[in-house]
Amino acid sequence: MIGVIGGSGLYQMEDIADARWEHVASPFGTPSDALLFGRLAGQDVVFLPRHGRGHRVPPTDIDVRANIDALKRAGCTQILSLTAVGSLREELPPGTLVVVDQFIDRTFARTKTFFGPGFTAHVSVADPVCTRMGHIAAGAAKELAIPVAHGGTYIVMEGPQFSTRAESELYRSWGASVIGMTAMPEAKLAREAEMCFCTIAMVTDYDCWHTAHVDVTAHAVAEVMKRNGAHAQNLLRKVIPQLGTWSGPCAHGCDRALEGAVMTAP
Ligand code: ADE
Repeated sequence: MIGVIGGSGLYQMEDIADARWEHVASPFGTPSDALLFGRLAGQDVVFLPRHGRGHRVPPTDIDVRANIDALKRAGCTQILSLTAVGSLREELPPGTLVVVDQFIDRTFARTKTFFGPGFTAHVSVADPVCTRMGHIAAGAAKELAIPVAHGGTYIVMEGPQFSTRAESELYRSWGASVIGMTAMPEAKLAREAEMCFCTIAMVTDYDCWHTAHVDVTAHAVAEVMKRNGAHAQNLLRKVIPQLGTWSGPCAHGCDRALEGAVMTAP
């Protein structure tokens, strides 16, 4: 089963056969919405709108543990996570897809592990994105002639406000490529849940560092996502069949992340 998490502006997956919304309960909390089960290009898929349909759940309030757990319970072994981001680089204009390979996690008000109290595990997130999924996503974007950068660092801020200009410049000086509010702790929790995970960041704006562009607004982000929605749907149509040919084990080790990670005595 392939899981897709849709970000701002992506609340549905098109062309899903046998589509049905089903609530999946999680002991960790309440997922953002019901899950949309169905088939796309011959593959079993399940879609979860990260902010819920109607965009009701703000970034800090997303129960990421419940979302990842619900996808795991639905049978997902791989998660493709689509997310709207601001650009911190001149060469990544709005409309670009960034197949992220690194994150800087600056969030501070979210629960970031499935473990404890009473149980300790430290998984590695040195390379937090599944390289196999990243290659497939970047290759598909190229074939579709969508402007794409294969590799880039996503800085995850708490929000909900956008950055100050000084913060934006600071993140640029750290070498970050794009900025958003949602990719963490998703990537960390997917690793703890031993699922392959890949973030596809869709650039909607130049963050406020760019003096030649107006400062980012929520409406501008939504407008660009609406326009880029077709890119996202086309990408999914191309990527899903390729992901579907995989049956493990993961060459990147995503499906064995807990091996050697548990500290608590049996
Ligand atoms: N999401 C989309 N654009 C963003 C920005 N500039 N900063 C943070 N999150 C975003």
